[in-house]
Amino acid sequence: MKNLSTEHISFDVDQVRADFPILNRMVNGHKLVYFDNAATSQTPQQVIDTIADYYSKYNANIHRGVHSLSQEATDRYEESRKTIQRHINAEKAHELIFTSGTTHSINIIASGFATILKPGDEIIVSATSHHSNIVPWQMMCEKTGAQLKVLPMDDEGELILEDFENLLNDKTKLVLIEHVSNALGTINPIKWIIDKAHEYGAAVLVDGAQACPHIIPDMRELDVDFYVISGHKMCGPTGIGALYGKEDWLNALPPYQGGGEMISEVTFEKTTYAELPHKFEAGTPNVCGAIALGRAVDYMNDLGFENIAGYETELLNHATKQLLEIDGLRIYGPIRGKAPVISFNIEGIHPYDIGTILDKLGIAVRTGHHCAQPIMDFYKIPGTVRASFSFYNTIEEIDRFIEAVKKARAMLS
Ligand code: ALA
Repeated sequence: MKNLSTEHISFDVDQVRADFPILNRMVNGHKLVYFDNAATSQTPQQVIDTIADYYSKYNANIHRGVHSLSQEATDRYEESRKTIQRHINAEKAHELIFTSGTTHSINIIASGFATILKPGDEIIVSATSHHSNIVPWQMMCEKTGAQLKVLPMDDEGELILEDFENLLNDKTKLVLIEHVSNALGTINPIKWIIDKAHEYGAAVLVDGAQACPHIIPDMRELDVDFYVISGHKMCGPTGIGALYGKEDWLNALPPYQGGGEMISEVTFEKTTYAELPHKFEAGTPNVCGAIALGRAVDYMNDLGFENIAGYETELLNHATKQLLEIDGLRIYGPIRGKAPVISFNIEGIHPYDIGTILDKLGIAVRTGHHCAQPIMDFYKIPGTVRASFSFYNTIEEIDRFIEAVKKARAMLS
């Protein structure tokens, strides 16, 4: 990604690919080329084994039993929390809450803020946000009388930072920003945004779903108030994610759901809540998913995030150069210095039609608005074709993809 030298990458992609059994499958008579990694990444055998291990050896409920299986499951679940804590350099393990993913995490924070926000308070949301960081806040604004203000973007898919300073004022309570745009791949200057917001006393929630597959965010260096991630975008299973929140914030917000495990004491007259992190983990959590997410984080760290990002930048540059040579093709958002995501259209052709032909040729991309309709409205388009790369993709796959795009263009023009 940005400013990354590719000179010292040690990366054997064939060896890496051997960890991903799904990459051997055929789709419509062709070997799969999987370029929909921004939607969901694939799962290495090491993580699949962790899931199988859990269900074949120590499946049990956690924090509840004295029996050995329950102890073992509890230990591994809590060890996984610590793995993620270390990975993102959070100060305390209990600042990490396991959730079902980014959407769940944001809804926890939004419903908590509904008890804090007052009429006239303001929330700033980035114009390139995913719907999951827009809709929960619109719902909370309706409830509380707070107002949502939009930090606009320019034609290159970058946020207009001068406008940020004009939007901030003493009514600003929260800033919502994505680390990396899922639709365009833009990497936002979140450290600058966090520092500016803090000057005005506003908290900052960063959607890290698209950043964490490529880089390691450092909670203490960023000094961010909330940072949310999804496991299924970083080699983990679906249905698991993590919410990081500064301890003071998590203590200040009310629980999201009531139920077992999140309590200290229950009587019919009154309930007191458990300490962090349990206060936000009502009910039986996704124990297996949390353990598997820890394994996925270890797997990626073993490969090395510098290697991952450097190699993905090579893939991105190779694809970008060739796509730009195709007549009538436009790439939306930044061209370089971004995450390995390319959103494009070909003049006069609907993105869905290109996606359908690519699928017939065994190539998986996403088409549509990518849960970021305001971006599509900005460009006055119905959607884009989005190819998103991961460290297990290859230059040869990109060449196949380019040929397929050219074929689709010839068929549909
Ligand atoms: N947020 C996911 C994407 O960008 C689903 O495709």
